[in-house]
Amino acid sequence: MRVLTGITTSGIPHLGNYVGAIRPAVAASRREDVDAFYFMADYHALIKCDDPARVQHSRLAIAATWLACGLDPNKATIYRQSDIPEIPELTWLLTCVTAKGLLNRAHAYKAAVDANTSAGEDPDAGVTAGLYMYPVLMAADILAFNANKVPVGRDQVQHIEMARDIAQRFNHLYGREFFVLPEAAIEEHVATLPGLDGRKMSKSYDNTIPLFEGGAKATRAAIMRIVTDSREPGEPKDADGSALFTIFRAFADPDETAAFRADLEGGMGWGDAKQHLFARIDRELAPMRERYAHLMAHLDEVEAILMAGAARARKTSEPLLDTLREAVGLGRGA
Ligand code: TYM
Repeated sequence: MRVLTGITTSGIPHLGNYVGAIRPAVAASRREDVDAFYFMADYHALIKCDDPARVQHSRLAIAATWLACGLDPNKATIYRQSDIPEIPELTWLLTCVTAKGLLNRAHAYKAAVDANTSAGEDPDAGVTAGLYMYPVLMAADILAFNANKVPVGRDQVQHIEMARDIAQRFNHLYGREFFVLPEAAIEEHVATLPGLDGRKMSKSYDNTIPLFEGGAKATRAAIMRIVTDSREPGEPKDADGSALFTIFRAFADPDETAAFRADLEGGMGWGDAKQHLFARIDRELAPMRERYAHLMAHLDEVEAILMAGAARARKTSEPLLDTLREAVGLGRGA
C-alpha cells in the first residue's frame, strides 16, 4: 500500500503538523506493508509566500523535522515537490479535465472570495490563479505516485476528495484505470489540534506552538501563553472546553489523560496544568529535538537524502507520465 503526504514549506513545523501529519506518517512508514512517500510541498509554498529565504529555510527545516521524528530515508522516500518535473507536467494534464466549478468550491478559494465580498471589494481581488489551482497541483502530487492513503489533518480532506474526483474524471475520459482513487487517513482524536487561542493551530492564525525551533524554551514559553478561563486554583475546570486539555490528550495515553482530567476537575490550577503539559510534551520531543539540531548543523546530509529521494520517487512518476502522455495523444515516436 502506498502512503503519501506533504507539508507546505512556508513556515516552521508546529505541534499541529506533528500530531496531524508527521507522527502518524512516520508510524505508518515503519509498517512492512507500507511504501511511504513524504515530501516538501515547495511549489505550494509559492502560492502564499514570496519570500525566497523563508521558503528555502523552511524546506530544509521540514526535511530535518521528518528525519528527526524518526523517518528512515532508506525505508521511506523523502523528496521536494520541485525536484519532480512530472508533478507540474501532470498538473497540466489534470487541469484540462478539471471542471472549473469544482475549483470554485474549494474552501481556500471560497474563503478569499467571501472575505473580499464582505469587505465590499471585487470578489477576486488579490486572488492568484495559483490559489485557484491549488487543488489540481495537490491532486498531481498524489496521483503522480498513485498513492492509496494520504494521512492528513481534517483541513485537507476536501483536497483529497477533489483528487479522487479528478482521477475518476481522467480515468473515465481516457478509458482506463490509470489512477487509483486515493483516500484520506485521519487520526480521529487529534484531527484538529487547537492552537494557543483555541482555534485550529495554524501559521495563519499566529497561534502555534513550535515543534523544535527555538528549543525547549520556546515550547515552554508558548505553552505558558495558552489561553485559559479565569477559574482560580481550587475551582473545578472544564477539561473538555479547554485547548490545554485537548493538546495534552494528543500526547498522552488514555490512563494519563484520565488522571489529568481528574486533576483539572478536582481544581488543579492552570499554572500547574501548563507545567504538566510541558513535561508531557517534552518527554516525547526532547530526543527528537537533539537529532533536529544535529541535522540543521549538517544540512549537506539533508540535501543528499533529498536528492536520493527525488531520484527514487521519479522511478515511479517517470514511467507513469510516459503512459499518460501516450494516453492523451502526446506520446513520442510515430
Ligand atoms: P500544511 O502544510 O498546511 O499542513 C501539513 C499537515 O499538517 C496538518 N495540520 C494539522 N493537523 C492537525 N491539527 C492542526 N492544527 C494542523 N495544522 C496542520 C495538515 O492537515 C497537513 O496534513 N496542502 C497541504 C500540503 C500538501 C499535501 C499534498 C498533503 C500539498 N500536496 C498532497 C497531502 C498530499 C498543506 O498545505 O498542508
